[in-house]
Amino acid sequence: MQRLILVTSLLLLFINCKQQPAIPTGLVTENAMVVSAREEASRIGSEIMEKGGNAFDAMVATELALAVAYPFAGNLGGGGFMVYRKNTGDIGAIDYREKAPLSAHKDMYLDSLGNVVPDMSTVGATAVGVPGTVAGVMEVHKKFGSLPLSDIMKPVIALAKKGLIVTEKQAKRLESYRERIVSVNGDSTKFANVYKAGDTIKYPALAKTLEKILEKGRDGFYTGEVAKKLATFIQEKGGFVTEEDLTKYEAKWRQPIVFKYKDLSIISMSPPSSGGATINQIFKMVEPYNISEYGHNSVKSVQLFTEASRRAYADRNYFLGDPDFVDIPLGELLSDSYLKERMKNFSFDKATLSSDVSHGEVEIVESSETTHYSIIDSEGNAVSATTTLNGGYGSKLYSDELGFFLNNEMDDFSAKPGIPNMFGLIGAEANSIAPEKRMLSSMTPTIVEKDGKLFLVVGTPGGSTIITAVAQTILNVYEFNLSMQEAVNAPRFHHQWLPDLISFEEEGFSDEIKAELKQKGYKIHEGRNRIIGKVDAIRVLPDGSLEGGADKRGDDTAVGF
Ligand code: GLY
Repeated sequence: MQRLILVTSLLLLFINCKQQPAIPTGLVTENAMVVSAREEASRIGSEIMEKGGNAFDAMVATELALAVAYPFAGNLGGGGFMVYRKNTGDIGAIDYREKAPLSAHKDMYLDSLGNVVPDMSTVGATAVGVPGTVAGVMEVHKKFGSLPLSDIMKPVIALAKKGLIVTEKQAKRLESYRERIVSVNGDSTKFANVYKAGDTIKYPALAKTLEKILEKGRDGFYTGEVAKKLATFIQEKGGFVTEEDLTKYEAKWRQPIVFKYKDLSIISMSPPSSGGATINQIFKMVEPYNISEYGHNSVKSVQLFTEASRRAYADRNYFLGDPDFVDIPLGELLSDSYLKERMKNFSFDKATLSSDVSHGEVEIVESSETTHYSIIDSEGNAVSATTTLNGGYGSKLYSDELGFFLNNEMDDFSAKPGIPNMFGLIGAEANSIAPEKRMLSSMTPTIVEKDGKLFLVVGTPGGSTIITAVAQTILNVYEFNLSMQEAVNAPRFHHQWLPDLISFEEEGFSDEIKAELKQKGYKIHEGRNRIIGKVDAIRVLPDGSLEGGADKRGDDTAVGF
């Protein structure tokens, strides 16, 4: 009897130990936190909350501060998505994605023979979509802001005037992009200068544009002097965005995608981002398996995740687009019966071939230079926002007069849809170009509830790898019991259906694991592998304090109080 009691107690102890959340290894704060790509931006957001602002005020401040502190991806000339969860449990999302200009048409990037014109949708003014960021943050402030706009924007304008110290990583990035920036803008442009680590870069032109926005709100950017200068500049450089395009731009409130994974409720971005739908499919295909028992980044867990991703990305490419323009069969794509059927031919014995998985025929070639920030305020309101210029420094087109880079988001459309796939289906039509349409995105700002309470705020840059990086980070915390910081730093891998390859980050996956996967028929991306995502996330600990996960792959920093 005594032995039975001892065994039962040990068993209970073991179960309890297993359920204990991981000890935090990232920054822990009591009340509020911002995690973003630059310390200066996180600090401005955090200070707004210390002054009594809420998470939405901090969102406006952080987004605009990233336009100053992180011009590589932070922006006034791009767009993004934000998902929120208020402390009441109310959830929502805003879409401030760029739009195609009014003059856009399906074949605008094709030559007379129907071939894609190289660079036209990626470099310079022809690649620019109508920017959405300023409309997005102003709309958030109008609906949820608690502090006057001047309290929020003054520190950002001061930062632009005072300037920022160039980090080692930033100096490297600037150097590697300098030639391309010069080829678009000429050699008298601001970023033709060589900036070394430790130098200070000031942004007086950007400060002036921000002052106009502070004075007139949304109209300070989309109408009047700034709009006129911006449209004239883009058109003089051969682009399509007009003053009318700018005047007509509006951010849109959307219903986020919400789904259950065990006792989690995951809230993520709906179309025109593919993020929420694709992550939903991946999680639901993984859910019936006991992934935690397979071990973190083990052969079996890599296989399971890869096969779920392969199937989810095949659907993503074929079905998803701007919901204001195309009917997306989301109900069916996300139904349990459909996803069960999708995994029916999965076996741990050997890889499924992507050529045996319908739909679509288009490889995703997306730029990875976006940026994400996560915020929780002292009341428990949470904001998850991902914002982008698409490529690093967007189209490279920089307005020296207005002080910011313009996006090359037009490249996220399918420039040449209509090619029948192996099943005779017309691929990527859903994401073809049309006037005022939003291009499909992979951005996946996400919030996770556990047992009905706020648990994680998470997101990342990384183009098509965003979705897998966010999903792996959530699994790292929930299934593999890593701390937030460990979950963010952990090595990642990626599969997106086409090309039929698993990419692994350089560190963290042994030759044995790769050999075993190859033996089962998986093809592995050989050669230099880039980093996969730069995740910035927050975990709510059982006592209500917050643990930041600021990705070690960048200059990302958590700041809070
Ligand atoms: N431009 C990257 C994305 O929207 O996913």
